[in-house]
Amino acid sequence: MKLFITGGAGFIGSNHIKLLLATDPDVSIVNFDALTYAGNLENLTDVATDPRYRFVRGDVSTVADVMDALDEGIDAIVHFAAESHVDRSIESAADFVRTNVVGTQVLLDAARARKVPRFVHVSTDEVMGSLDDGGFFTEDSVLAPNSPYAASKAAAEHFVRAAMQTHGLDAVITRCSNNYGPYQFPEKLIPLVIANAIDGKPIPVYGNGQQVRDWIYVDDHCRAVDAVMRKAATGSVYCVGARSERANLEVIRTILDAVGAPHSLITYVSDRPGHDRRYAIDPVRVESEIGWTPRVTFEEGIAKTVGWYRDNAEWMAHARSGAYRDFYEKNLAWRETSSADAHS
Ligand code: NAD
Ligand code: DAU
Repeated sequence: MKLFITGGAGFIGSNHIKLLLATDPDVSIVNFDALTYAGNLENLTDVATDPRYRFVRGDVSTVADVMDALDEGIDAIVHFAAESHVDRSIESAADFVRTNVVGTQVLLDAARARKVPRFVHVSTDEVMGSLDDGGFFTEDSVLAPNSPYAASKAAAEHFVRAAMQTHGLDAVITRCSNNYGPYQFPEKLIPLVIANAIDGKPIPVYGNGQQVRDWIYVDDHCRAVDAVMRKAATGSVYCVGARSERANLEVIRTILDAVGAPHSLITYVSDRPGHDRRYAIDPVRVESEIGWTPRVTFEEGIAKTVGWYRDNAEWMAHARSGAYRDFYEKNLAWRETSSADAHS
């Protein structure tokens, strides 16, 4: 099976590529990635010389880049490439529209032109908005995105649907909950908390820390994407989650305990504008129709992840010495320390 994987130098894409190369001797992969601040080829040093793997630098929103790299004979496009961080989309949405919306449309056109038999679109639960304390997201939930990031991912889903309806493209969509695990860029909550806890630095908690996310270990998400690619009927949508809801403060305290760092590092800061209250997935459809189930519990996953970041201090140092620092120090005007916000 020949796969064209976009965004394979990022967190989930690089874990996906390594999982496939380790488990499927018949797979060959083109990793197409622009190497933005979130793309890191250090994630892929283990497989860089594998003859089944090839890296091509290119931008999904540039037609020539995509058409030059997308050979005839590709069995599926697996589309991970995206601007993925909500906070950055609040600061400026332009790159989110260009990569997530225009880039998806460029890839859909290229898939048709090259007669690619399957397009796997990796979407997110955030397209369905925010839940109150009860209920779950399902495949029948309405799209109600709240952040510019979520809006761009919802728009991309509409273009995927339109390509299926209008042009008969074979596509499937996954909507997964919050991932964590090795190689996640330390702007996202879990790697940020681990890194700061190890360094004894303050842990920024947005608002009151009671927002709920539904956490899944990255390999479990990758296995779901792969199973959907191989088994799903054309046009299907699957919500993917591991039934692992946690409030942010609970996640942070679990990590501080795992690292052996004091809870006094917790520092309340201004809330994220438009902060979604709760995400929670009902994964019954992907479990029953595709036969996928998660394998890693939250407790096991956090222990593995903390261990990985401890053992890979150099990876983290390199990730943190780049754009990330500047971004947080200079750009997030709304994110000021504010004990008054803590329990509001
Ligand atoms: P990431 O930010 O770690 O990686 C994104 C990758 O895309 C990077 O390698 C980057 O260089 C590449 N990229 C960005 N713009 C590009 C462009 N214009 N052309 C080519 N490549 C480009 O993201 P991630 O967390 O690995 O997420 C991967 C996908 O999964 C995204 O589509 C995201 O919406 C989705 N998703 C993420 C999560 C999560 O919790 N992280 C959950 C559900 C769905
Ligand atoms: O639900 C899937 C989505 O999960 C993906 O589509 C996104 O790509 C991914 O970034 C993630 O979005 P979130 O906004 O939920 O993840 P983030 O790690 O940014 O934040 C998780 C929660 O922690 C959220 O409620 C905000 C809060 N938070 C985050 C950071 C970075 C803090 O309290 N402090 C922080 O410093």
